[in-house]
Amino acid sequence: MKAVRLLEYGGLSALQLLDIGWPAIHEGQVFVEVHAASLNPFDTMIREGVLRETLPLKLPITLGGDIAGIVVDVGPAVSGISVGDKVYGQASVVAGNSGAFAEFASTAASQVAKMPNNIGFNQAAALPLVGVSALQAMTKHFNLKRGQKICIKGGAGGVGAIAVQLAKHIGAHVAATASGDDIDYVAKLGADEVIDYKQYDFTEMLHNYDAFFDTVGGDDFSRAYAILRQDGVAVSMVENPDEAEYLEHGIVALRQSTVVTTHMLDQLAKLVNSGVITVRIGKELPLEQVQEAFRVREGGMVSGKVVLTIK
Ligand SMILES: NC(=O)c1ccc[n+]([C@@H]2O[C@H](COP(=O)([O-])OP(=O)(O)OC[C@H]3O[C@@H](n4cnc5c(N)ncnc54)[C@H](OP(=O)(O)O)[C@@H]3O)[C@@H](O)[C@H]2O)c1
Repeated sequence: MKAVRLLEYGGLSALQLLDIGWPAIHEGQVFVEVHAASLNPFDTMIREGVLRETLPLKLPITLGGDIAGIVVDVGPAVSGISVGDKVYGQASVVAGNSGAFAEFASTAASQVAKMPNNIGFNQAAALPLVGVSALQAMTKHFNLKRGQKICIKGGAGGVGAIAVQLAKHIGAHVAATASGDDIDYVAKLGADEVIDYKQYDFTEMLHNYDAFFDTVGGDDFSRAYAILRQDGVAVSMVENPDEAEYLEHGIVALRQSTVVTTHMLDQLAKLVNSGVITVRIGKELPLEQVQEAFRVREGGMVSGKVVLTIK
């Protein structure tokens, strides 16, 4: 089968589409014919070796996390998923799976779920990491409630766009940052205020917020503590907060580690099925053009998810 192999840490040329043997299927895993996979910033970090100290990998590996496809076999000790099911979720080698950017993947049944029934494989593949990240932040870390005020930095990004939709669905007042054409897009997602981050400093404009969700990183994670009320919550997808600093502001701050599980994917699928959440695809390319897919994503050439169409 064809798979995108990371031969060594580095640039785009470190990725090669090669013919390799089918991955083995182990206890608790399902074997998926991958129809589509999507790129995340995490894939770039793996490719570049940024995480090699904390997440040592024995190269070569098959790159990629997010998949959507059809189950063609199930390993021992798997329940709730059958051959023929359309599933979406994660197949990253980092979690002991065979990798997403390939014609077939074996992956833990606990990291996939039946995909939403009102979208195709490309959209389903665009959802797992960004969708579960936003859902985890809103429900677990913020426990966001109707009438509360949340600021979402990076409202047009993969995680941010889902977060805006979820926060509005919950009934919160949403301020989000974006730039250029994305300002309109984020407003259409339902944000009450969209702040052009290239012109304005949101940390000087917002006050008495309950929650701040940082999907971008940078210095203004801690500067944004100032927009929060006493006991407000700041969550970053990127930055590690300094405890002394956030305690001094009388707030709670944390860096989120997203955990993609069947339960979270099921919750997400319900929200997609009921029309609460949509995902924007910026570019679809065949597996053969994986280097171009990374170039487009990393160059910021499109807004929206970049998807590899595989079958
Ligand atoms: N910790 C975890 O478990 C975990 C899980 C998932 C993701 N993440 C991380 O979360 C981050 C977001 O992921 P993603 O998939 O949403 O990425 P993404 O789709 O690339 O979105 C990033 C967004 O940030 C915006 N942005 C860039 N610079 C900005 C600035 N100075 N101010 C405001 N917005 C700015 C971009 O908008 P422009 O187009 O205007 O630049 C873009 O919309 C990544 O760093 C990723 O690695 C972490």
